[in-house]
Amino acid sequence: MSSRHAQREKKTLSLYRLAVLISGSGSNLQAVIDAVSDGTIPNAKVELVVSSREGVFGLERAKNSGITNMVINRNDISTLLETLENHKINGIVLAGYLTILPPEVIKTYSRKIVNIHPALLPMFGGKGFYGIRVHQAVLASGVEYTGASAHIVDCGVDTGEVLVRCVVPVHDDDTAETLQKRVLEVEHKTLVRAVKALAENGIDELASKPVTFFSDEDRKGLIEFAQGLTELGKTLTDADNGEL
Ligand code: GRF
Repeated sequence: MSSRHAQREKKTLSLYRLAVLISGSGSNLQAVIDAVSDGTIPNAKVELVVSSREGVFGLERAKNSGITNMVINRNDISTLLETLENHKINGIVLAGYLTILPPEVIKTYSRKIVNIHPALLPMFGGKGFYGIRVHQAVLASGVEYTGASAHIVDCGVDTGEVLVRCVVPVHDDDTAETLQKRVLEVEHKTLVRAVKALAENGIDELASKPVTFFSDEDRKGLIEFAQGLTELGKTLTDADNGEL
């Protein structure tokens, strides 16, 4: 075997094998597929896509990318576990998977399962907070900010440690639908950051020092705020790193 061939083989062997579980349109799945193929997540492969529902667009996305895909009934735990094992899955991404994973799966893949949630956890998480309901609850509460959170999946509902959060401002004229759309856009970046960490070093490091970042529209607001302060002769500083 030539040394180049050996190197290529070594690289292939070290790929982190991901299973992505979905129930719907799969835009988060697509974000992970794209991040793997453009090298943002260099050492991973989306090996398998499992949907809890027939006929969803996420399955088409998997097919279009040549990824093995199937529907497994949410109650068929043994088929799910067997399939994950057969595909030698290292880590699992829940990307709009509208089913609570049973403890058997969570224990088998302990600290190797990441979920994306469309709110700033621990707020607006837990049983009943899914889909549009999350955004309706956010609006009803009157909070000024919401966002997306990628977190470790444990045996509770949305209770695992948060890894990455992205903040999104709530506008006065927002409806649950407009908010859902803006949050979905940042879910993609949020999830990719967490999956990258999972595949590169495991998630313990990120869990001990979770990252919070701002959506682009919010960052624009922060920059204007900082400029306004400068005009007033004041300087915005950050406690850790000094002047901004
Ligand atoms: C996302 O908002 C996700 O957070 C939620 O379901 C939605 C799925 O979107 N749990 P997609 O299927 O990834 O497009």
